[in-house]
Amino acid sequence: MVDSALYIPDLDSIPAGLDLMAEIQRLKRDRKAVLLAHYYQEPEIQDLADFVGDSLQLSQQAAKTDAEVIAFCGVHFMAETAKILNPGKRVVIPDMDAGCSLADRCPADQFAKWLEAYPGHEVVSYINCSAGVKALSTVICTSSNAVRVVESIPKEKPIVFAPDRHLGKWVSKQTGRDMVLFPGFCIVHEQFTQRRVAALKAQRPDALVIAHPECVEQVSSLADFVGSTAALLRFVKERPEKAFIVATEAGILHQMRKARPDAELIPAPADSGCNCSLCPYMKLNNLEKLYLALRDLQPEITLDETLRTRALQPLERMLALG
Ligand code: 13P
Ligand code: SF4
Repeated sequence: MVDSALYIPDLDSIPAGLDLMAEIQRLKRDRKAVLLAHYYQEPEIQDLADFVGDSLQLSQQAAKTDAEVIAFCGVHFMAETAKILNPGKRVVIPDMDAGCSLADRCPADQFAKWLEAYPGHEVVSYINCSAGVKALSTVICTSSNAVRVVESIPKEKPIVFAPDRHLGKWVSKQTGRDMVLFPGFCIVHEQFTQRRVAALKAQRPDALVIAHPECVEQVSSLADFVGSTAALLRFVKERPEKAFIVATEAGILHQMRKARPDAELIPAPADSGCNCSLCPYMKLNNLEKLYLALRDLQPEITLDETLRTRALQPLERMLALG
């Protein structure tokens, strides 16, 4: 077997004209695999998945699956989290290069050095980080439960929040807790600007603006509702309004359209070259690479056992909070 670090999906080995959707279903059964997909995956992958969710829901699913193989359609830190929770299972990801700007810009060795300036602080880390950073943390959070996780820390304890400074700022506002923020950011959500979202809002006063807390404060303060990907979907399902300006990664629109075919869902314009608000890492996964991952059981996530057990503790603290 090729080492996962050296594995390159051989797209030319896929027979021409193969019915990828049917083959993926067949391989999923043959491999006794569960297919977990984040809301930012392409629509076909979401439709094939056994479970589609946000980071918290996916880690909860990974914690309770009895499948032999987890095919994780998301980014590396998500698949790695599934492996931390399931050391005995094979966890494969369609593209090993599916990273995340938050995780990639916070290497564990540099984070450890940065933390030296904050002795005695509780370290709350957003799940968008490597196993190495998780291992240095007191507790993990996702955007769904970050407020609850921070509130679970005794008031007298100082807190470091990493690696997303915008989520950290938003949580700080919600909880009234002063926190030291690591200066990381999501390259997708930082592309939404106050100037362009405000201009769209002025053109469409009938639409509610909804935003992910990874957005800059100037954008989230314009929003009628701020929440995690799952919370944004819930909001659109439950509200009677007929138009929503959506300031998050556009992959979520697939489930929003299914839930509210009667509503107009307007992607907030990203100030990027392509104007598209798509996560380039998430979109590295596609049906072809998913087929190969299930066929070859590669590339596989592997983890040093000492690191895994250290990273598991703060993750279990989060899961215990519900
Ligand atoms: P959630 O899945 O927690 O909403 O986070 C969004 C995100 O950017 C995932 O990488
Ligand atoms: Fe990371 Fe942002 Fe992509 Fe999510 S959307 S995986 S936070 S770069």
